[in-house]
Amino acid sequence: MSIVSVQPLGIELEVAPDQTVMAAAVAAGYGWPTVCEANASCGTCVSIVEEGAENCGPMPADEEETLTRTLVPLDGQRRLACRLTVTGPVTLKKRGVHKAE
Ligand code: FES
Repeated sequence: MSIVSVQPLGIELEVAPDQTVMAAAVAAGYGWPTVCEANASCGTCVSIVEEGAENCGPMPADEEETLTRTLVPLDGQRRLACRLTVTGPVTLKKRGVHKAE
């Protein structure tokens, strides 16, 4: 398990090696902004990697395609939470993450 801190909400998520950050958030009872329901097509879940970029998993082709289509720079600092896996501690900034009702 790796710990992902999510700001500005200030939560810490435990993320399994084969789990995406968004899936871990949902499993922990949080909502993450999405329109496509985690299909890597809307770009709504894009998050800023503030720390731990070296612990972020490789970018899959569908994530790269969506970031490119939505004019998000492929700089490794912006990732789709619905495709992001981690291998160590990461701090993400994403507004709109909230406790699910
Ligand atoms: S939820 Fe739509 S791209 Fe990630």
